[in-house]
Amino acid sequence: MGKVFALTSGKGGVGKSTVSVGLAYAFCESGKKVLLVDMDEGFRCLDLMLGVDENTVFDLSDILIGREPEDAVYVCEKPSGLHLVPAPASFGTVDTFSFAKFAAEIDEKYDAVIFDFPAGINLPLYCALPENTLFLTVAIPDPVSVRDAAVVGEKLFEASLSSRLVINRFIYKQSRKYGFKNIDSIIDSASQRLIGIVPEDYELGILSAGHNLNAKSRAFSAFRRISARLCGENILLPKLKKI
Ligand SMILES: Nc1ncnc2c1ncn2[C@@H]1O[C@H](COP(=O)(O)OP(=O)(O)OP(=O)(O)O)[C@@H](O)[C@H]1O
Ligand SMILES: [Mg+2]
Repeated sequence: MGKVFALTSGKGGVGKSTVSVGLAYAFCESGKKVLLVDMDEGFRCLDLMLGVDENTVFDLSDILIGREPEDAVYVCEKPSGLHLVPAPASFGTVDTFSFAKFAAEIDEKYDAVIFDFPAGINLPLYCALPENTLFLTVAIPDPVSVRDAAVVGEKLFEASLSSRLVINRFIYKQSRKYGFKNIDSIIDSASQRLIGIVPEDYELGILSAGHNLNAKSRAFSAFRRISARLCGENILLPKLKKI
């Protein structure tokens, strides 16, 4: 059975889609077959971020009304091993029952499946994911985002869903200015175990314009560390100055 991850956040724009793509790149680099599923109905973005928006024909709504996933999943040329299900262009097309059936079956065919959800909490869809799903709550180190991450973590916990925290857009020199004494105080406030820290990195900013993720960037190194931890490896956090 593959590993299933679901990206969430309370506050919008904190980097869920960016982290989804970064993790997908890191998994692909280690030879895994990866499926990215864009869950942001109406506001899809992963097709653009991967530079394949002109080529995709089908989306999640086609699969949910009966099209075979094998025909509808888009196979990306780069990076090798990456597959995409774009989000529906219109709203209100994802029904929980069909989605649960899709999610239960698709997980068998990939080494890793990453569901990129919109901000906010959608417990019916979260509970429709396979039991082995690990939620990755993304927060940037500002008090509003961190408090919102704590709310998401609490709701996931109440629903018996497992989650880990990803701190995104981390800038060592500014970390204290955000009002947090140190990383521990962010983790405590977000009330979730940390899986990794992603630096603020220009290379990620240009991802949304369809650029490839630079394999030598600090951000890519952060995604490699997170993907390895998600696969059970014990990778220490580097010194914060070096993230
Ligand atoms: N670590 C980073 N360094 C620099 N820019 C980043 C980083 N992470 C995300 N960004 C930028 O922040 C913006 C928002 O990122 P993204 O779209 O991934 O957020 P999101 O949480 O998926 O948003 P939404 O809630 O709308 O789905 C984008 O312009 C992206 O390029
Ligand atoms: Mg997004």
